[in-house]
Amino acid sequence: MISQPLNRFARLPLFNAPTALEKLPRLSATLGRDIYIKRDDTTQFALGGNKVRKLEYLLADALQAGADTLITAGAIQSNHVRQTAAVAARLGLGCLALLENPIGTQDSNYLSNGNRLLLDLFDAQVELVANLDNAEQLLQEAAERLRSLGKKPYVVPIGGSNALGALGYVRAGLELAQQIEESSKTFAAVVLASGSAGTHSGLALALAECLPQLPVIGVTVSRPVATQLPKVQGLAERTAELLGVSLPAAFKVELWDDYFGPRYGEPNAGTLAAIKLLASQEGVLLDPVYTGKAFAGLLDGIAKGRFPGNDPLLFLHTGGSPALFAYHPA
Ligand SMILES: Cc1ncc(COP(=O)(O)O)c(C=O)c1O
Repeated sequence: MISQPLNRFARLPLFNAPTALEKLPRLSATLGRDIYIKRDDTTQFALGGNKVRKLEYLLADALQAGADTLITAGAIQSNHVRQTAAVAARLGLGCLALLENPIGTQDSNYLSNGNRLLLDLFDAQVELVANLDNAEQLLQEAAERLRSLGKKPYVVPIGGSNALGALGYVRAGLELAQQIEESSKTFAAVVLASGSAGTHSGLALALAECLPQLPVIGVTVSRPVATQLPKVQGLAERTAELLGVSLPAAFKVELWDDYFGPRYGEPNAGTLAAIKLLASQEGVLLDPVYTGKAFAGLLDGIAKGRFPGNDPLLFLHTGGSPALFAYHPA
């Protein structure tokens, strides 16, 4: 059982779990297929989202290490950076954010609204960098600079996606498995956005143990399968190792990479249509960078018969709606 080794890790509770598992009644009727969503967009902290779950484990570690400043990195509109900065504010820690502009836009909403606006409210210190191709090196250099000023920095990896952060989604997977069991339903698949991979790796690891028949499909938001697959697989292996367990026999990385174009951070027509559909039919907000692409994959998967049978589908909603104000996609 994964839950036993998981419970040995320190965790700093930041929100009240479980998040709801809900049916989308109007959309299900429209599509002729039942769709449920797990509302990790409502993780009750700084406008919610998946990163809060990872930060529960990462921040317990940071506090144990006596850190006084968090350093992290991401896109100007990163949800991860927004949630990290919010947690720093809550705990009275400093926060240094290294930000890149992955789509090279000069749109003033992208540069200053949405998640970026919130960084200022949380008092994060922002440094713009040309790109994050060498993120690890940039983060370590920033940590060195802060140490030379007498600070005690803690580096939160991009997306919170190391093995410790992924424990947040192992825990979420156990939570979801219990909700599925309580629902007495058989789901055809769980669909989620797969980016820095901590969400996908942790969730798939837990579900492979608890519900081995249930496919977990990651819709990539930045990479083709060839590069995303080793990322998810490798992180799942490191997470299992951290827990001291073997990867369950049913563990399998399934990825769809047809929906992330033209590139990370830039929505396509399918992304925008998915955002509009869910908003107009259910009052639920997706985002232009992650969940809009993943939900577009789910919708196209239904249209193309990529999910066998007629069992309901489950979408893990990982948040991101503050970016709507940066992209104004309506
Ligand atoms: C809203 C949202 N969904 C999904 C993801 C992807 O999660 P992961 O980076 O763990 O793959 C992110 C990552 O930043 C996100 O912000």
